[in-house]
Amino acid sequence: MTDLNDLFEAARTVRKRAYAPYSNFLVGAALRTPDGSVFTGCNVENASYPVSVCAEGGAVSAMISAGHREISEALVIGDAALCTPCGMCRQRLKEFGTDTLVVHVADLEGIRRSFTMDELLPAAFELEEKRTGSR
Ligand code: THU
Repeated sequence: MTDLNDLFEAARTVRKRAYAPYSNFLVGAALRTPDGSVFTGCNVENASYPVSVCAEGGAVSAMISAGHREISEALVIGDAALCTPCGMCRQRLKEFGTDTLVVHVADLEGIRRSFTMDELLPAAFELEEKRTGSR
């Protein structure tokens, strides 16, 4: 797991910053782009529950805001048996995932399982307009 240590540590660190007073379930996400950059996010809940943002959503926003468009590797960490991304976040990751994107799912001890995007979201909805450039 050595080459995933940086992603694991990044996700573990950001997880501790999650704002989750309603569920008390802290989640961290770390995304790696093809050039090796890493972006992170944590869940941010709201008194109006549906307004909450998942860790993956925050990480995708951070990546896009920094000018990146592709995710080559992702890691999600939560204190659960298997904290896989929710359905909406699978679609979010699919939008920016490379063809070889692998999503690693970790608990506080380490990575538990790894999934291809096709395993997480088979027959995914996509449109041609998708762009990897800066516009
Ligand atoms: N959550 C995430 O942020 N990512 C996941 O992959 C699973 C669930 C959040 C949403 C909510 O704030 C809390 O975990 C409990 O569902």
